[in-house]
Amino acid sequence: MKEDLYPKDFILKNGDEVLFRHVKRKDANAVWKNFNQVVEEAIYLPVFLPVESQFEKHTWYDSLKKSNEICIVAENVNLERPNHILGQCEISNVDWDAASHVGSLGIIVRKNYRDEGIGRILIDVAIRESKKLNEKQKIILSCFSSNERALHLYKSMGFQKIGIRKQQFLIEDQYYDEVLMELFIDDYIREN
Ligand SMILES: CC(C)(COP(=O)(O)OP(=O)(O)OC[C@H]1O[C@@H](n2cnc3c(N)ncnc32)[C@H](O)[C@@H]1OP(=O)(O)O)[C@@H](O)C(=O)NCCC(=O)NCCS
Repeated sequence: MKEDLYPKDFILKNGDEVLFRHVKRKDANAVWKNFNQVVEEAIYLPVFLPVESQFEKHTWYDSLKKSNEICIVAENVNLERPNHILGQCEISNVDWDAASHVGSLGIIVRKNYRDEGIGRILIDVAIRESKKLNEKQKIILSCFSSNERALHLYKSMGFQKIGIRKQQFLIEDQYYDEVLMELFIDDYIREN
């Protein structure tokens, strides 16, 4: 079965090949390792504690599959587990019955692999798969207003800023504003 959802070869600066595919259970530790590293960076996510328990990691995977949610991963085919997943983009369902056409996007790329284009491809693939497999029509997300790289990426892919929640998060005595964004998938596909 063909796994790579990105039709062009993606090669890192160091020459390694990256494959874009749906997450598998065997990736759970790697995905959470990436998440925990971003929690440790303490400037991008409104989360204080890392996820360490195998139970929590596997419950996440079970729930993702049960709810048919999308998680696309970027795999470095030359690296062993749990270092093989360089980043992940999840599109979760929104908790309202009447919003089943809307997906909520979250993304992480591991620190040493940022700014090589992985994030842009993860989002592109996740958006297309969420329309194809889950009939999503619209993607929403939120981001700290200080996260210039993420905001640049979202804006350049067509996400529109629809509002700001001022001082929504408080981390180590510093307030962060939350930027809310959305994108209509058909508009995105038409333009890309
Ligand atoms: C945000 C994130 C997912 C993007 O992934 P990535 O692989 O680095 O993204 P890409 O390489 O595809 O694109 C990054 C873009 O930001 C640009 N960029 C980098 N630093 C920037 C900055 N300080 N200000 C503005 N733009 C910046 C890059 O030039 C690139 O733009 P381009 O494609 O127009 O040249 C990744 O950096 C990350 O995981 N950050 C930490 C966690 C996080 O912020 N998650 C999102 C929470 S909302």
